[in-house]
Amino acid sequence: MKIMSIVGARPEFLQVAPLCWEIARGPHQHLVVHTGQHYDRLMSDVFFEDLRLPPPDIMLGVGSGSHGVQTGRILAALDPVLEQHQPDWVVVFGDTNSTVAGTLAAVKMHVPVAHVEAGLRSFNRRMPEEINRVVTDHAADLLLAPTVGAMEQLAREGLGAKAIQVGDIKTEVTYAIRDAVQGRVVRLPEGVDPSAPYYVATIHRAENTDEPARLRAVIAGMAAAPHPVVLLAHPRLLDRAATQGIDLRQGSIVPTDPLAYPDMVAAVLGSVGVVTDSGGLQKEAFLLRRPCTTVRTETEWVETVDLGWNVLCPDPSRLRAVLSRAAPPPTSAEPYGAGDTARQIIAALESKVA
Ligand code: UD1
Repeated sequence: MKIMSIVGARPEFLQVAPLCWEIARGPHQHLVVHTGQHYDRLMSDVFFEDLRLPPPDIMLGVGSGSHGVQTGRILAALDPVLEQHQPDWVVVFGDTNSTVAGTLAAVKMHVPVAHVEAGLRSFNRRMPEEINRVVTDHAADLLLAPTVGAMEQLAREGLGAKAIQVGDIKTEVTYAIRDAVQGRVVRLPEGVDPSAPYYVATIHRAENTDEPARLRAVIAGMAAAPHPVVLLAHPRLLDRAATQGIDLRQGSIVPTDPLAYPDMVAAVLGSVGVVTDSGGLQKEAFLLRRPCTTVRTETEWVETVDLGWNVLCPDPSRLRAVLSRAAPPPTSAEPYGAGDTARQIIAALESKVA
């Protein structure tokens, strides 16, 4: 069986890793296509190196652009790649522009598509990721859902017959890296004492960065936090803050570059909590059992909220109060599976291939 994984943005490099490890055991062939959506070294190459992944087999090099331009470039670049390699399966992950473009390119060439992380919804159609998820789930042939809730959602949309629950693929990576970084020195920016309380923060969603008043309020909210906030600044945040004349270095905030994944896991493990608008980091905080505060009105990973480990704080002026809340109740719940998702995905692909 020839499997082609299509990745392009930071979370996808983590999602594909367990598939690479599993397929390397044989007997199947794996081709990894990198669309080039993320291209900075810290946003891309370091993930392949840290996760001991071979470099991608095919680089499309599409780069940044508006949604239409970026998605269109990926679509156009994939046609000849699919034509040449004729995979038995295309595998796409999550909700990025690479996900939706990979899906459309493949289904139009009658190549079966499996969507990893199917069935998640924020029900917020202003998020580009929500549109990407819905379109991908409806177009794909096999839906690999991480949770019970995702399976239920797919059934509600009439997609239950092509859905299988396999657990969450990133859980495998998070657990593997957590075990690997035990005892590792946490790399924090100068001036932040790793032995004193601090938060790890990321903010990059368009809803928070692209409107100046909103971004100002989010930064002011984090600046008022009771402990230092190590802000791992995504290129979009840096760009929008610079063009809007907003200084990220305010109050408790200590801005710094994005971290490689092992350093990120170590930083979260050493922290007293996480502040984010990322999807993945909310779940990682839960898996690492650090309380998360999410600067959004909704979450796709509802289990983290239900179990008390994640609090939605859409109003940034309340961040200080929300961060000062009592510790969540301990839990041994495993809503994202036990960490054998890649094996289950390969089994599902094998069972469906003609
Ligand atoms: C994308 C995903 C988002 C995911 C995030 C993780 C979509 C619609 N969104 O958002 O779901 O959570 O990746 O990081 O696909 N840029 C650089 N260097 C890079 C990458 C981006 O400078 O290596 C800058 C560019 O100015 C670009 C902007 O960041 O315009 C946004 O990048 P883009 O890939 O369009 O979306 P993300 O915000 O990263």
